[in-house]
Amino acid sequence: MIRFEPLAAQGADAIDALLDTAFGPERRGRTAYAIRRGMAWMTDLSFASFSTENGAMTGLLQSWPIALHGPDGVQTPLVMVGPVAVLPGQQGSGEGRALMDRLVEEAARVTDEPLMMIGDPGYYQRFWGFTAEGTGQWQAPGPFEAHRLLARLSRPGGHPLPHAGMLGPRPVVSA
Ligand SMILES: CC(C)(COP(=O)(O)OP(=O)(O)OC[C@H]1O[C@@H](n2cnc3c(N)ncnc32)[C@H](O)[C@@H]1OP(=O)(O)O)[C@@H](O)C(=O)NCCC(=O)NCCS
Repeated sequence: MIRFEPLAAQGADAIDALLDTAFGPERRGRTAYAIRRGMAWMTDLSFASFSTENGAMTGLLQSWPIALHGPDGVQTPLVMVGPVAVLPGQQGSGEGRALMDRLVEEAARVTDEPLMMIGDPGYYQRFWGFTAEGTGQWQAPGPFEAHRLLARLSRPGGHPLPHAGMLGPRPVVSA
């Protein structure tokens, strides 16, 4: 039985420790981190999961507000999904799927913005239909493998995928 809580209910140290265990401390050098640099994760689309009885967090998923900065100066908001992380001892028992199911369901409820991520198509395309088909002309501020740059609409009829541009943080609009 997997239980969820908002990730915001977890401490920053616990989140960092889980991510270090799943990805290693060099994770901060990844292109995904450069894309969302300076952004705060989205509290309504970030979750903690618990699959053991001892009360410790065993998995988490974060989502980030980013944008595709088009050549014409137009900035299209996107939701960047990830990291998705499950502790090694708990992997392979459906916790990652449960986290992603939760994200996809919640995103369809709260946003029109397309979802994107850098991840394995063997996982994210197979279960949730993320695909690199529409991202061929997207660029990023660091190296990435084109077949792993994935996107999907948040829901049918949601904002369409932007065509071309550079991924980066979403500019903050002051009131
Ligand atoms: C990737 C990760 C989140 C998946 O979570 P998980 O709970 O281990 O996976 P699940 O139990 O939900 O897997 C369900 C299925 O997907 C498959 N799968 C898991 N990870 C996969 C991957 N990276 N690529 C392809 N298939 C994968 C499993 O083999 C399983 O297949 P089956 O149903 O045919 O047996 C987890 O393994 C993890 O944290 N890995 C280290 C960090 C990482 O690489 N995160 C992803 C990048 S953001």
